[in-house]
Amino acid sequence: MEVVILNSAEEVGSTVADHVESLAASKPEAVLGFATGSSPLPVYQELARRVRNGLDLSHLQGFALDEYVGLDYGHPESYHSVIEREVIEPLKLKPELIHVPAGAADDLDVSGHEYEAAIMSAGGVDLQILGIGADGHIGFNEPTSSFASRTRVKTLTKHTREANARFFSSLDEVPTHCLTQGLGTILDARKLVLVAFGESKAEAVAAAVEGPVTAICPASALQLHRFATVVIDRAAASKLRLREYYEYIVANKPR
Ligand code: F6R
Repeated sequence: MEVVILNSAEEVGSTVADHVESLAASKPEAVLGFATGSSPLPVYQELARRVRNGLDLSHLQGFALDEYVGLDYGHPESYHSVIEREVIEPLKLKPELIHVPAGAADDLDVSGHEYEAAIMSAGGVDLQILGIGADGHIGFNEPTSSFASRTRVKTLTKHTREANARFFSSLDEVPTHCLTQGLGTILDARKLVLVAFGESKAEAVAAAVEGPVTAICPASALQLHRFATVVIDRAAASKLRLREYYEYIVANKPR
């Protein structure tokens, strides 16, 4: 796994935006995987800035990682709304090319299967952007999720609901369930880029990068991927034992 440690959220945003821009240059209709939450916002903001300056991302296709169950898509915190507000509009993407799991569908098993089929028929995800929960979740694959899992309903942990309560007016309003891509779905993406900021993510990042591959830390599944990059700030890197080694590798990359 490549670990890139940077000084600020802006640097993280710009580094990951470079990955997206070079992918779009070589494959304009590439498939991006979008995380929601706070962590990827600097990436989307930097891409939006480049789009305002002329970068064309309008042929990109996209798949969000997850959606709450039991929230109207029109609710401002549904991931349908968040993806529209933070990604589709600022990056000037075509709404019909961007997909979010159907968490309000009557039959969630069917919508999970349909989401997997849609990803397959788009040719699979080229670059998946990930955040990480303080408990090590990616997507909403909570601890003990199967590494082989596909898009399905998951129960959010109390910890995740409390962390996400900041987006709602009370904890009671935070949905209890979600429809999320599985760890198996995520591992099928051709490239994974995980972003994290701040001390509160330091333990989860260390467990994911340097700990055992274990379902108790779903993000440790990244160790099984050939092309996984972790792009983090110094605070999120603070519990990594081999921090200096990762910095040395990045500084001495063969050209
Ligand atoms: C949301 C998602 C989650 C978040 C994680 C971190 O689509 O995939 O795994 O990335 O909960 O959230 P933030 O970035 O808000 O700390």
